[in-house]
Amino acid sequence: MLDVIGLSTSFQNGNQRIRAVDTISFSIGPNEVVGLVGESGSGKSVTALSCMNLVPSTALVSGEVNWRGKNVLTMSDRDHRQFLGKEIGMIFQNPLASLNPVFSIGSQMMETIMLHQSVDKRTARDIAIQLLTQVKIPDASTRLNDYPHQFSLGMCQRIMIAITLAMKPRLIIADEPTASLDVTIQAQVLALLDALRREQELSILMISHDLGVIAQFCDRILIMYLGKIVETGTPTQIFKMPKHPYTQALISAIPVPDPDLRQKPKLISGDIPSPANLPAGCRFHPRCPIATDRCRDLEPELIDGVACWNSGI
Ligand SMILES: Nc1ncnc2c1ncn2[C@@H]1O[C@H](COP(=O)(O)OP(=O)(O)OP(=O)(O)O)[C@@H](O)[C@H]1O
Ligand SMILES: [Mg+2]
Repeated sequence: MLDVIGLSTSFQNGNQRIRAVDTISFSIGPNEVVGLVGESGSGKSVTALSCMNLVPSTALVSGEVNWRGKNVLTMSDRDHRQFLGKEIGMIFQNPLASLNPVFSIGSQMMETIMLHQSVDKRTARDIAIQLLTQVKIPDASTRLNDYPHQFSLGMCQRIMIAITLAMKPRLIIADEPTASLDVTIQAQVLALLDALRREQELSILMISHDLGVIAQFCDRILIMYLGKIVETGTPTQIFKMPKHPYTQALISAIPVPDPDLRQKPKLISGDIPSPANLPAGCRFHPRCPIATDRCRDLEPELIDGVACWNSGI
């Protein structure tokens, strides 16, 4: 459904060129949930915005983002509006930023429903109640009249999911949808998204800096480091046999509750370098415990799911 081929996005900042996303390729099939994981600043949000052709106009984007055969980056304004309005839904980290504080939840939902499903007000209200029930907001028919501040943060995120569903999208891009929620609510929101994608024909690109969160929920994981995808595989492949030293470090950093199983995390030394000043060769080499001369000189390609010269060792 979504085929990203050689996508690069950079920003010109004075005489600095910030390569936020650097020739990445991946695809998302029907009903598939793909997780995009990486540290802060690795380019996850820029990837999401680039896939929707919503990057700021200062950005330089190249490559292809094919959505059901049409390139999102070059499609007409009309097709683009249709794509954004009908095919794709976005869920962001902070639900309060997406909800309007001065309108009731019901009126915001009904507006979206009437815009997307050409139904009258009464039917829109029924659909809104149905959607709120679906995302497990109790007493949906009365709560419809409440305003965003009268709901908890977790509820607001579920309401955002309901509003996104009202658009009937085929693909949802969720950028850190649970980052502002505590762990139990986080689990509920993820379980909800998981249930929804099983019930409806829905694909999801799920973005997180937390590999542990992503793993329970995705069919496939993309590990991103400084604008590149350095490893990709199923959660089982990634957890049982992580090939890239960066992935290994991410996994060892996931907290294990059992004190007997606890191991010392493999700390990644140093900070993530600036995408304005990328290291030569493999961009992970300055922080890599097994880097060799070849890693310092030549950039490895993503082959058999990993971009590392030493992954076979
Ligand atoms: N509009 C912009 N102008 C210039 N640089 C930008 C812009 N947007 C993002 N960047 C840079 O691109 C890089 C990738 O940013 P991005 O927001 O995609 O990271 P991220 O992986 O989503 O991080 P986080 O986990 O913190 O959300 C960063 O170095 C960021 O500073
Ligand atoms: Mg981000």
